Amino acid sequence: MRKVEESVCVEAFGELLLREMSVSSLKIGLAGFGNVGAGVYKNIEKNQHLLRERTGKELVVSRIAVRDLTKARTVEMPADLVTTDLDELVQDPEIDLIVELIGGIDSAFDLVKASVENGKAVVTGNKALLAERGQELFAIAEEHGQPIFYEAAVAGGIPIIKTVQESLIGNHIQTMAGIINGTCNYILTRMTEAGLDYETALGEAQQLGYAEADPTLDVNGWDAAHKAIILASLSYGCWVPCDKIHVEGIENVHREDIAFAEKLGYTIKLLAIIQLHEETGAIEVRVQPSLIANNHILASVKGVFNAILVKGDVVGETLFYGSGAGQDPTSSSVIADIADATARLGSSQGSGFVTHGLYGSPAPIEDSVSKYYLRVEVEDRPGVLAQIAAVLGKLDVGILSLIQPEDHDEETAPIVLMLHYAAFGVVQEALECISKLDCVCESPVLLRVEDLG
Ligand code: HSE
Repeated sequence: MRKVEESVCVEAFGELLLREMSVSSLKIGLAGFGNVGAGVYKNIEKNQHLLRERTGKELVVSRIAVRDLTKARTVEMPADLVTTDLDELVQDPEIDLIVELIGGIDSAFDLVKASVENGKAVVTGNKALLAERGQELFAIAEEHGQPIFYEAAVAGGIPIIKTVQESLIGNHIQTMAGIINGTCNYILTRMTEAGLDYETALGEAQQLGYAEADPTLDVNGWDAAHKAIILASLSYGCWVPCDKIHVEGIENVHREDIAFAEKLGYTIKLLAIIQLHEETGAIEVRVQPSLIANNHILASVKGVFNAILVKGDVVGETLFYGSGAGQDPTSSSVIADIADATARLGSSQGSGFVTHGLYGSPAPIEDSVSKYYLRVEVEDRPGVLAQIAAVLGKLDVGILSLIQPEDHDEETAPIVLMLHYAAFGVVQEALECISKLDCVCESPVLLRVEDLG
């Protein structure tokens, strides 16, 4: 009996040894050891064994490039792996894959370009880089037969890129509606739930580390816009230029608009809308603070969470929800890309972006149609409402409903109008005329009302 046990033991050990010997490694050059870079290193170490079982490869971070060697780190870096020279990663013949997490556009572009030219696959989480220069980069990657993976570039830990590339490959994507900036969603949630003003909510988001020290790209809508460009380009097989989309941030969302929206049964969210105009093939891409019905599922996405509603012609509606930022969620997506790269190494299967001409060009924003919320602060005297209604009537914009609260200042009063479906260009024209009326005291506030079905 003992002999049998011993022989089973020896056999099992032999099998293990054989497996260990057959496991080859994937050598990674990690460029950037900030919040996400450190998370990638930490979590590869943490789940090394699981990753080896699942990919059949040992994932080895063999070089780390940082800008500043003296910077205090929350995750310890092995000193012998660290360099300040990005070129050392690119030129190292042992390195199979570069993970670009340095941020910015120009130096990141140079790094990714040099990497694919040197026969290395790339993983990046850089949304600005892809939105601004993705077309150039993927053409270079295609030419060199190297893939670029970018799951972490959109919505942090939510696997939306692979979903569109793989799971929804058999669909025409009809619509995407996304809450894809956690900082803005946090600010709007606090303004809604705690009645905070914009500045106070932003300060809170900064203190909690959600917003960057310079939160400009978050609050002006461009962080979400870069992500929307990537999603639209991926969905429609052509790069949507940054200057062909409409972007508004949340800086001008006021507490009173949130309160009025609530009275009317709506919640204000910063929404990225990507829509295919089926009759023309045109693609609409825009980012705007918008009213959505309180009972719509996206209205319940609160705090720093992200969610993306995707409607395909075959699948129907699908919804993806999760953490859109942060060290661990974002590094989860980077690691998924690294794991994908293990399967692709040595085989030339394209760049990771498929260009085709099945759809049209970006739709002009002026033609995009929705309902609207309009708040106009006016002098409190007879005839004022008639003047506003006359402007709207002349441009054939219908009024759906109207509120004017009794409890307002002595001199001025807000008029809140819900407008019927109309083209954005026409409503902009109306807004311009209304702003010029003598009775109007402040710039009017115009917000989209999204009918998400
Ligand atoms: N700053 C972004 C956000 C995450 O708040 O969602 C990175 O894009």
